[in-house]
Amino acid sequence: MIEFHPQARAVHIGAVLCSGTLFALRGAGVLAGARWPMAAALRYLSYGIDTVLLTAALVLVAMLPSALFANHWLTVKLVLLLVYVALGSLALKRGRSARVRAICFMAALTVFAAMVGIARTHQPLGWLAGWADTTVARRVGEIDFNNNNGRPHEEHLLAICRT
Ligand code: HEM
Repeated sequence: MIEFHPQARAVHIGAVLCSGTLFALRGAGVLAGARWPMAAALRYLSYGIDTVLLTAALVLVAMLPSALFANHWLTVKLVLLLVYVALGSLALKRGRSARVRAICFMAALTVFAAMVGIARTHQPLGWLAGWADTTVARRVGEIDFNNNNGRPHEEHLLAICRT
């Protein structure tokens, strides 16, 4: 089954692009006070795209080795998916005021970008994973190995861990 990984991944990524673009356009339309974003045709198009997205996602989960998910990046992505769905609903429909809808719209786009980052890096921290790594590497580079018989001072290490 794994031989179909490139196809399943391509379908998933294509649906992610369509889903995100459609949501961004509809959200912008709602913010502008338009009525077309809630038209039945667009709502059903959105359900269809999201069904393809989720189906391809489940196929990917089934075909990939579970070791790939050992650091829980997929769990974090699924939790964020729930947050994204809730924010999306508030942004398009349930938000009580234009201000609430606008804030939820921006937050939903941010969560979407975070999910893409998590998927791309296979890290729960997503786009921040590289930054965290280099931060740790930079701090470790600060450790003074010369004044304690080649070993770092415990206090110095503790100070780094606390910052
Ligand atoms: C709006 C929601 C989602 C977004 C934005 C999203 C985004 C992405 C992206 C951009 C990739 C390609 C990463 C790469 O370049 O390898 C990807 C892969 C993947 N996604 Fe999603 N995804 C979403 C929902 C889901 C869900 C709900 C699941 C699981 C049920 C899922 C499971 C996966 C898996 C298993 C991969 C394959 C990783 C690999 O081939 O190495 N995704 N996702």
